[in-house]
Amino acid sequence: MKYFITTYGCQMNVHESEKIAGMLVDIGYSSASSYEDADIIVFNTCCIRDTAEKRAFGNIGALKSLKRTHPDKIIVVVGCMTQQKGGAEALAAKFPFVDIILGTNSLDRLPILVQEKRIRKTVISVASDPTVDLSLELPIYRTSGTNAWINIMYGCNNYCTYCIVPYVRGRERSRAIGDVIADVKQVLSEGYKEITLLGQNVDSYGSDLQDGTNFALLLKEISAIPGKFRLRFMTSHPKDFDREVIDVIASSNNICHNIHLPIQSGSNEILRRMNRKYTVEQYLSIVDYIKEKMPDVGITSDIMVGFPGETEEDFLETCDLVRKVRFSNAFTFIYSPRKGTPAASMEQIPSDVKKSRITRLVKLQNDITKELSDEYLGNTYEILVEDVNPKYPGTVCGRTDSGRLVTIKGEPSLIGSFLDVKITKSRSASLFGEILSKGE
Ligand code: 5AD
Ligand code: SF4
Repeated sequence: MKYFITTYGCQMNVHESEKIAGMLVDIGYSSASSYEDADIIVFNTCCIRDTAEKRAFGNIGALKSLKRTHPDKIIVVVGCMTQQKGGAEALAAKFPFVDIILGTNSLDRLPILVQEKRIRKTVISVASDPTVDLSLELPIYRTSGTNAWINIMYGCNNYCTYCIVPYVRGRERSRAIGDVIADVKQVLSEGYKEITLLGQNVDSYGSDLQDGTNFALLLKEISAIPGKFRLRFMTSHPKDFDREVIDVIASSNNICHNIHLPIQSGSNEILRRMNRKYTVEQYLSIVDYIKEKMPDVGITSDIMVGFPGETEEDFLETCDLVRKVRFSNAFTFIYSPRKGTPAASMEQIPSDVKKSRITRLVKLQNDITKELSDEYLGNTYEILVEDVNPKYPGTVCGRTDSGRLVTIKGEPSLIGSFLDVKITKSRSASLFGEILSKGE
């Protein structure tokens, strides 16, 4: 028996799909290569933006005829879309051929529901309160090569006015530091070379535990574990990303100098209405401190255009900020209203204005990324080989400590090794290099 999982959205979801796979492997399933080949088809959905939601709707809908010809295939929808208010019921009404709809808070029920699933009606299981500590209780079938994801916390308390996450993922819950460290030691013993700590707001890790634990302490403890590995984390919130954490990163030799620090907007008025709780000046002072302590840092960001009421001046301030910080890369988004969030009922701005702004922002960031790429030319960096680069046969690729992807000639057997690589060519965001020496 085989399973096929389609994942939408962020790294948290990618990792959650590893847990779904782990549960299915545990009850005797193995991975399939297509819908046709699978006995159970899982859609792990995301509702953070309407693009992700539309894609999931389209893909689920497209399975209607497959289900008609193969009624024994079990179709499961999980993830954030099911956890929205009324979301599960809406999905069941729109796609009556779906067998199981499972909320993020009830993911652990999947095996039992799959094994019981011999009835015709859609089974909906969505709990409003998160009860299970997913990563403690669920088996994980890791799929991300050299990197192992580890959740350090769930949920978010921030209520940015555009964001649906706190409504579908609940309040912040940190995992005990001992459990996180045990997971880290476990994946290192399995041979993983990179660990990425996951949370919606990793900087507030520990604040709900009230035992003095905080993110800086967690980083310090993990960083001190013997062995050659890299440590990454995401996502940080500028209001909580403090100097203590920056000092820990700067003084460690295995926490990557690659920081994802979403700014969202470069206008103080928009930031205020987004409920982000920092100003552009505060953000820039954190960036200055990071750059002072780690001149080789790669800072990436999330930036949104078209938030309700964003004027051309507000947008130009965002462009100004992008020019000042010079992000190594940025995820740029068009704001999309999310039902039930405060910003959804504010006055919206026209979609052609949003489109013009995103085009200009993407061009600006691409130019900066290209300029920064050129600065890598001729220098040598340690990279961790992650995968083959399917675009160029006979090559593999890996990241610098600062997070830039480098392609080199080489065999798949290099995956998992650290190499010193000299950068010989840059093409917009892509870097190409040659191997100087093989590390550990
Ligand atoms: N519309 C567009 N982008 C959004 N994001 C979150 N909510 C929305 C929304 N309603 C973006 C933010 C966040 C990233 C994960 O997704 O930039 O940092
Ligand atoms: Fe959403 Fe803001 Fe929480 Fe990030 S910090 S998940 S943008 S509410």
